[in-house]
Amino acid sequence: MSFSDLASGVASQRPSAWTERLLIEYLPDSAPKTRDETTGADVVQGLSQVQKTLPPKYFYDDRGSQLFEQICSLPEYYLTRTETAILQTYANDLTRLTGECELVELGSGSSTKTRLLLNAYQDLNYPLHYRPIDVSAGILESSAHRLLEDYPGLNVHALVGTYELGLKHLSDSYLSKRMISFLGSSLGNLTSEECDRFFTQIAAALHPGDYFLLGVDLHKATAQLEAAYNDKQGITAEFNLNILRHLNQRFNGNFDLTQFQHVAFYNEALHQIEMHLRSLKNQVATLAGLDFVVELEAGETIQSEISRKFDLPTLQHQLQNSGLNYVRSWMDANQWFALAVFERRNS
Ligand code: AVJ
Repeated sequence: MSFSDLASGVASQRPSAWTERLLIEYLPDSAPKTRDETTGADVVQGLSQVQKTLPPKYFYDDRGSQLFEQICSLPEYYLTRTETAILQTYANDLTRLTGECELVELGSGSSTKTRLLLNAYQDLNYPLHYRPIDVSAGILESSAHRLLEDYPGLNVHALVGTYELGLKHLSDSYLSKRMISFLGSSLGNLTSEECDRFFTQIAAALHPGDYFLLGVDLHKATAQLEAAYNDKQGITAEFNLNILRHLNQRFNGNFDLTQFQHVAFYNEALHQIEMHLRSLKNQVATLAGLDFVVELEAGETIQSEISRKFDLPTLQHQLQNSGLNYVRSWMDANQWFALAVFERRNS
């Protein structure tokens, strides 16, 4: 199927914008939000548990996305710069290994790391097909336009929607092979059971011989991990509290941000950073838009995020069970972070 066949096919279904090298597809029930998010059922559910929780995706309104960008360049937050350095060093090894591939990226964000991959494919004179999947239409549109300006041979087919929907709606690959990339250790937000479901979805979106590129943060000393989530400037604390501000605004709530404290610690038994918001007093908050009232005791916490840390052998085993064979990995000299590539096997 050529790019223009696809254009006409999709244009009839969706309000998709086309230029010659760009297709932005707005997935059916994804725009602007998934059903759960629109109704806030996931918020009510999380806040009704004994250990109250919130889904980490609510961090990322505009303000939260900005704060996350700031986190990525904090001195204590080694993750982003370490992964970028690994890509800078090894992207060429990776692209030589995969050969010509269309690049599907989950949660593409600001696309700095994407460029390192595109550069490496470009250096080999391979055709460039990029398919970012992201819930934020704004980020997808602006980063697609910038990429098209900088890569004259590039075609972009962006999917606006959740990973799950995006993976389900990937049409045939534009090139003989496909590589799905999931960088930044975003996998860390998923429980082990959620990882299993996610890997199964990845495998289903690949043909035998296709690739999955995964960037993960590795086990390390507690002090270093805790510093990364308790930065001196307090940006991570602001990021954490912003989730309540976002809920207030989205669901007409009245959480008092001055009455909560950012807490982040490494749970060594579970190998995960946990972020919580600790209530500084007995208090009641209302989310009028959800017709929901939440009571908190002094000292009680709402868990807002888990950020799991991985070891490669365990991960390899888990992906293996989902039909994804380990091929190779690259690490920084300190072995803080790993980039691993897996291949969808026959069967
Ligand atoms: C985007 C999920 C990879 O877990 O390190 C950064 C989010 N939270 N600081 C991470 C985050 C607090 C980040 N991930």
